Amino acid sequence: MDTQQKPCEIGIIGLGVMGRNLMLNIAEKGFLVAGYDTDITKVKSVQEEHEDKTIISTGDLAKFISSLRLPRAIIILVPAGSPVDAVINNIQPLLHQGDIIIDAGNSFFKDTDIRASKLEQKGILFIGSGISGGKEGARRGPSIMPGGNKEAYLRVCHVFSLIAAKANDMPCVAYLGSGSVGHYVKMVHNGIEYAMMQLISEVYDFMKRGLCLNNDEICTVIHEWNQGELNCYLLEITEQIFRKKDVKTGKFLIDEILDVAGQNGTGMWTSESAMELQVPVPTIDTAVVMRNFSAMHNERDTASKTLLRLISSFDGDKNAALIQLHGALYTAMIITYAQGFSLLSKASGKYNFHLNPSTVAQIWRGGCIIRSAMLNDIMKAFDNVNKLPNLLLYPELSKKIKDNEKYLRHIIITGIKSSVPVPAMMSSLAYLDTLRSKWLPANLIQAQRDYFGDHKYQRYDSEGTFHTKW
Ligand code: 6PG
Repeated sequence: MDTQQKPCEIGIIGLGVMGRNLMLNIAEKGFLVAGYDTDITKVKSVQEEHEDKTIISTGDLAKFISSLRLPRAIIILVPAGSPVDAVINNIQPLLHQGDIIIDAGNSFFKDTDIRASKLEQKGILFIGSGISGGKEGARRGPSIMPGGNKEAYLRVCHVFSLIAAKANDMPCVAYLGSGSVGHYVKMVHNGIEYAMMQLISEVYDFMKRGLCLNNDEICTVIHEWNQGELNCYLLEITEQIFRKKDVKTGKFLIDEILDVAGQNGTGMWTSESAMELQVPVPTIDTAVVMRNFSAMHNERDTASKTLLRLISSFDGDKNAALIQLHGALYTAMIITYAQGFSLLSKASGKYNFHLNPSTVAQIWRGGCIIRSAMLNDIMKAFDNVNKLPNLLLYPELSKKIKDNEKYLRHIIITGIKSSVPVPAMMSSLAYLDTLRSKWLPANLIQAQRDYFGDHKYQRYDSEGTFHTKW
């Protein structure tokens, strides 16, 4: 490293694929950026690949820290959990009061609160920031969801605004508020991501095993859908996936991939948080459950023989079924976003985030995994109606749901009849049917609780609680 070098604007710890791509993105916008990793092969490869003067990479922590301009701003991009604490513990003795640590990984929001308050006692400012868009997003423009110390954000916002994706010329980054709001919003983003991926995979299954379409036909359908109101990043990559041939066999790669999906826990955290806050997010819950089901490979294999039920192929009008499937996916996706935003609203009240849902929709419109054309309508809904209790109550969206829900119902009925599982679609419809149900059979549950446990019940005709000797 050249000791005469000007101080770097910002530093990154963790030169994995996300870290190095973010470094390149920052450098490309004209900032001098420093990178550090304990893995010297990663450091060398960044150095070799990019001899550009705006990138400095090193395996020497003290040199890395001293290369940064004051107050220092350091982005940590390492796996969530103990690696984040290990990095913080290592760098903390080298930092000055007013220096800034930005955790840009998928950290659990409650850990972020603990880290922020510990660092605050030492005078170090902390930002917990979600970053979405995978390796391509980090390189070309991610969606960035920062929260935490406002003063610290003002030190880095000029960099973040330039490296973020743009949607309608607006950068997909905004200061979301204090505390762990940035990581909370990213967690809910991932919950929605799980649900959208599950819904798209159910659509794939319905086309493959229900309608007996081949990969080329499925690819064509997805391509067409992605041109209209269903347009979203996840459909865009799905189309590419269906085009890909396996270099080893020459067959479609998708058919060579094991039907077991991994997970790093962010979807589960969303469900857990929703349970804790008593907010129904059944489509997200189901998506997590389906990842767990996918992992039960051997049990499914055994049960497929013991509990044999053949999938009966569809004998109706396939084009009509595809129109229904389009409407079903549209409806379920809007319902999924509605669940995510209602969780954000409850969490905002509970944790004093003061979150603006329109801002969240705005920064999710570009760069991130759940970006979609629908988010424009969602942003408009939150802009037009202050404190909208549920997205589905916004008149334009209510109308779209009322126009399309019959398709969701038809597809579920067809799925049930033919034994193609569509659990996330079923959860979405159940959410809609329950939300608009003025009356629910919870009176019976009140009565049962009172019967066996003297828990008392409330009545329509009188205030207070009552107990009956059943
Ligand atoms: C993103 C992604 C990213 C990561 C997911 C994958 O927004 O860029 O969400 O953060 O790919 O966390 O999560 P799972 O491994 O749990 O599917």
